[in-house]
Amino acid sequence: MNGFTQNIFGEVHKTSSGNLVVEGEVDTRHGPILYLEDVSVSFDGFKALNNMSLYIDAGELRCLIGPNGAGKTTLMDVITGKTRPDTGSVFFGQTIDLLQMDEPAIAQAGICRKFQKPSVFDALTVFENLELALKADKGTWQTLFHRLSGEQRDRIDQIIETIGLSSCNHYRAGILSHGQKQWLEIGMLLMQEPKVMLVDEPIAGMTHQEIERTAELLLSLQGQHSIVVVEHDMEFVRSIASKVTVLHEGSVLTEGTMDEVQNDPRVIQVYLGG
Ligand SMILES: Nc1ncnc2c1ncn2[C@@H]1O[C@H](COP(=O)(O)OP(=O)(O)O)[C@@H](O)[C@H]1O
Ligand SMILES: [Mg+2]
Repeated sequence: MNGFTQNIFGEVHKTSSGNLVVEGEVDTRHGPILYLEDVSVSFDGFKALNNMSLYIDAGELRCLIGPNGAGKTTLMDVITGKTRPDTGSVFFGQTIDLLQMDEPAIAQAGICRKFQKPSVFDALTVFENLELALKADKGTWQTLFHRLSGEQRDRIDQIIETIGLSSCNHYRAGILSHGQKQWLEIGMLLMQEPKVMLVDEPIAGMTHQEIERTAELLLSLQGQHSIVVVEHDMEFVRSIASKVTVLHEGSVLTEGTMDEVQNDPRVIQVYLGG
């Protein structure tokens, strides 16, 4: 692609424009970190995704909205390798073809997903959950009981602060509120230093105060990570989104600021007209 020579040996290449590219690194020099082009997915002849094209910029916090059945979950399944599209292309940066990779390889490359239900370990403390996420990522389950380096401890402490759980550091996760568990799980994803985070309905079941803190957390993560949030709650979307993409019947209906999409007659039709 673009004069880049594929090479499995981790060597440095020159692109046609003369820039150096290190194999395996995510090349975002043109802006986007995710490229989906003309992606279609059919289930028994029904098109869950229909020639969808979507570009997510590096460091951006993007919200995806759309009525039930619009294809939001299927889109996340395609990006993470769970579902293979019938047609189209999906690239991570300029050079990494996600359709050539399986789910674990995509996760390893730095694209992670937070599902709706938190899956933290109730019997472990907040700190231990994060420790586990760190070690699981490094593929060192067998060294679970080895001591953490000072650097690793600092990293865990830093994540605990980011997710606002410093005062609950040594609490067992089982006694945390629903919202706190969701933040802990986001923290566990952060331990893996993801480049892209896909977050499906993060505020479902949260209290008003938890919703506000979740908005702050997601806003604080943009820039360092590219985040794609699927959410139904429009007030929440308004509080975090600079750019909103509206999906409908497997395609992008429109994109823009919250005000732009909410005033778009096609969007109003889709949500109210039925
Ligand atoms: N595994 C599947 N088999 C058959 N149909 C599916 C499957 N997954 C999703 N669909 C259909 O594809 C459409 C899009 O689904 P989905 O991506 O879950 O939408 P959303 O998350 O926006 O509500 C829906 O009509 C859904 O019924
Ligand atoms: Mg869904």
